[in-house]
Amino acid sequence: MIRAVLTGTGSALPRQLVTNADLAERVDTSDEWIVERTGIRQRYLAEPGETTSSLATEAARRALEAAGVDASEIGLIVLATATPDHTFPATATQVQHALGCKGGVAFDVAAVCSGFLYALATADSLLRTGMATKALVIGAETFSRILDWEDRTTCVLFGDGAGAVVLEAQDVAENGPGILASKLHADGEHKELLYVDGGPSTTGTVGKLRMRGREVFRHAVVNLAEVLRETIEEAGITVDQVDWVVPHQANARILDATARKLGLAEEKVVVTVDRHANTSAASVPLALDVAVRDGRVKKGDLVLFEAMGGGFTWGAALARM
Ligand code: UT7
Repeated sequence: MIRAVLTGTGSALPRQLVTNADLAERVDTSDEWIVERTGIRQRYLAEPGETTSSLATEAARRALEAAGVDASEIGLIVLATATPDHTFPATATQVQHALGCKGGVAFDVAAVCSGFLYALATADSLLRTGMATKALVIGAETFSRILDWEDRTTCVLFGDGAGAVVLEAQDVAENGPGILASKLHADGEHKELLYVDGGPSTTGTVGKLRMRGREVFRHAVVNLAEVLRETIEEAGITVDQVDWVVPHQANARILDATARKLGLAEEKVVVTVDRHANTSAASVPLALDVAVRDGRVKKGDLVLFEAMGGGFTWGAALARM
């Protein structure tokens, strides 16, 4: 059977490291509050000249190198972002050009923090229909550019970065590698809990991120546990067969609560929120790349991905590496 197989991962972070103590110098907050409520200790923030497309291109190059794939072989680029370089063209086309890919398809998906899950499911479907044979799926963000640095309830939570995977259509055995199941959801009812208060068609400005964190937290734990159960059921496996969970990194307490709800062993959850903070669509592929490169995630492992974000949108996917 034809499956989309993850053959390489890569990631990129901006140069500027900002600790909680650094932030406490410009915002009314403390390292103690941020660590206790979120698990975040530091984040990387883009400097002038570092953009969503430059971070995405760097992450993509590393993923291509890990997969042993040349940029010219890529027929599809799906890039998840809520912070594109420009309103248009799609950031994916800028990455395509920077990588030197000729031809093929390149477009962005906007599902905020769930963007990578949406992009992965889209690329998986397109590869299985034969539209392309090799794809790059990228999550890349520069949320620092849409943060209100006067609002301590949001500005301490986010960071910038990018992560990428190479997906290849391969004819594999039933117990072989590839994406085994994926589930996506959206519900526009709660827009006001997490949104950006600008846009080309409303204010004509870029706008700033607004979030009612406590309410988002409550929805996240319920929705994530549900979509993870659905995905596990669709794949016909049990929770204890999962080797690793690579979740969206919004808050260490959400990760703990979700794992507890599902009966997942805490040590199977890849946590990077402490060093990257919440990088929105980049957080899942960034965390995956960390766990692949440090040797935790290995060939043959069953890995569960999950995310929830503005929209609301949420989703999960299960892959055998
Ligand atoms: O990736 C997209 C999805 N997003 C999420 O999943 C985010 C989900 N939400 C969260 O992670 C948490 O709700 C937050 C980390 C955003 C907030 O944690 P919380 O435990 O829900 O805190 P809270 O909003 O209830 O605020 C508690 C107190 C408040 O003070 P009072 O009213 O109790 O006196 C805030 O004013 O903490 C205060 N506070 C801060 N204090 C120091 C809020 N932000 C800060 C801050 N530093 N940065």
